[in-house]
Amino acid sequence: MELNLAGKTALIAASSQGLGFAIAKQLVKEGANVVISGREEAKLKEKVSELEALGTGKAAFQTADITKPEDIKRLVSYTAETFRTIDMLVNNAGGPPAGAFEELNDDAWIDSFELNLLSYVRMIREALPYLKQQGGKILNIASSSIKEPIPGLILSNTFRTGIIGLSKTLASELAPFGIIINTIAPGRIATDRVKHLDQVNADKLGVDIETVEAQMKTAIPLKRYGTPEEFANVATFLLSDANSYMTGSAFLVDGGMVKSI
Ligand SMILES: NC(=O)c1ccc[n+]([C@@H]2O[C@H](COP(=O)([O-])OP(=O)(O)OC[C@H]3O[C@@H](n4cnc5c(N)ncnc54)[C@H](OP(=O)(O)O)[C@@H]3O)[C@@H](O)[C@H]2O)c1
Repeated sequence: MELNLAGKTALIAASSQGLGFAIAKQLVKEGANVVISGREEAKLKEKVSELEALGTGKAAFQTADITKPEDIKRLVSYTAETFRTIDMLVNNAGGPPAGAFEELNDDAWIDSFELNLLSYVRMIREALPYLKQQGGKILNIASSSIKEPIPGLILSNTFRTGIIGLSKTLASELAPFGIIINTIAPGRIATDRVKHLDQVNADKLGVDIETVEAQMKTAIPLKRYGTPEEFANVATFLLSDANSYMTGSAFLVDGGMVKSI
C-alpha cells in the first residue's frame, strides 16, 4: 500500500499533545512536513524538537488560539509560507467542559461552539485556497458522541454532530477540486483529556480514578483504552493517497465501545 506522504505538507490544529500530536508524529515518520500548533510556545518548541529527532519529514510550529479568527489566518499563512503548500488539514480542538444541560449558561454554549465547531469552519475556509491548488485531504477529529451521546457531555454531543453535517456537505462541494474530507471519532484513547474526564466522573461519584477507568474498560469490547498511536494510524491512512475513495464518512476508533449499528 502506497501512502505517498513524503514531501507533502500537513497543518494540524491543536496539536501540542494528545491525538493531534500523535498524528503529527506518524506523518513526520512517513516523511511529511508538519506544522503543529497550540497556545503555549514553550510546549510547542519542545514538541517540534521531538518531531525533528524522528529525522524524516520537517516540523515547524506556530502558536495559535483557534477560537481567534486572526490566529487561524496567521497559522494557515505561516504553513503555506513555510512549506509552500498545504496538502492536508487536520482539524482538532480542546475538549469542551463537562456538564449537564442545567449547569451550562450561554457563555459556555458560545465558547464551545467557537472552539469545537466554528474553528473547524474557519480553518477549512482559510486553508481551502491552498488545498484547491492540487487537491488534498481534510480530516476532522470529533468524538464517539457523533454516534452515541455521552452522559454529562452535552456540549460535545451537540457540536460534534455539527462537524458531521459540515463534513458530509463539504464532501460534495469539494469533490470537484479533488478534496477528500472525513471525520475520525475517538472513543477512549489514553490522553490527558480522557484522564481529566475520568477524574471529573470520579469526583462526582466519590470514588478514585482507577475505579472509573476499570468501569469504563468493562464497557469496551477490547477491554482497554486505545493508544494515541493506534488512533494516529487510522488518521494517517485517511490522510494518505491510500485513501482515494472514502469521503464524507465518519470512522470510530473506539475498541468497539459504541453499540449502535
Ligand atoms: N482522547 C479521546 O479519547 C477523546 C475522545 C473523544 C473526544 N476527544 C476530543 O478530541 C480532541 C483532542 O483530544 P485529546 O485527547 O488529544 O486532548 P488533549 O490531550 O487535551 O489535547 C488538546 C490539544 O488542544 C490544544 N488546544 C486546546 N484548546 C486550544 C485552543 N483554544 N487553541 C489552540 N489549541 C488548543 C491543546 O494545547 P494548548 O492547551 O497548549 O493550547 C492540546 O494540544 C478534544 O476535542 C477531545 O475532547 C478525545
